[in-house]
Amino acid sequence: MFSITKIFSQTPRTLIGNAAGLLLTGLLASSAMMTSAQAADIATTYDNSCAACHDSGALNAIKKGDSAKWQQLIQQKGMPTLINSVKRGMSQMPAGGLCGNCDDDDYRQLIDYMSK
Ligand code: HEC
Repeated sequence: MFSITKIFSQTPRTLIGNAAGLLLTGLLASSAMMTSAQAADIATTYDNSCAACHDSGALNAIKKGDSAKWQQLIQQKGMPTLINSVKRGMSQMPAGGLCGNCDDDDYRQLIDYMSK
């Protein structure tokens, strides 16, 4: 532990500065990406991911706008279960529903969006 501290304390400041700068840039870039993905219009995310099946009802997917069916499903299984279904995938639905960067809240909003 002591020797590690010593190495760090002996490393030229500029080097640490550059490394920290790089790290910070990386963090900022990735958090900016996260924010834009989360802030992205749910409608756009739907169009890019879920619409492939849920717009047309392909493979027997529950159609967007079929509120009766969606409400029934939400009541029967509950939102957390539905979110997990999408994340794990189902017999016909690929895990994640073709959305590479959706989090739980995105899925909740997407399901909500489809149910209207
Ligand atoms: C490749 C086609 C396909 C895509 C893409 C897809 N789904 Fe599905 N989804 C299905 C099918 C088909 C079902 C019906 C269950 C089954 O047979 O797999 C389904 C079922 C569901 C269910 C019901 C789960 C349950 O437990 O009954 C939810 C919720 C859902 N999809 C949400 C989404 C969301 C949100 C997206 C986009 C992020 C998405 N799906 C993308 C095909 C798809």
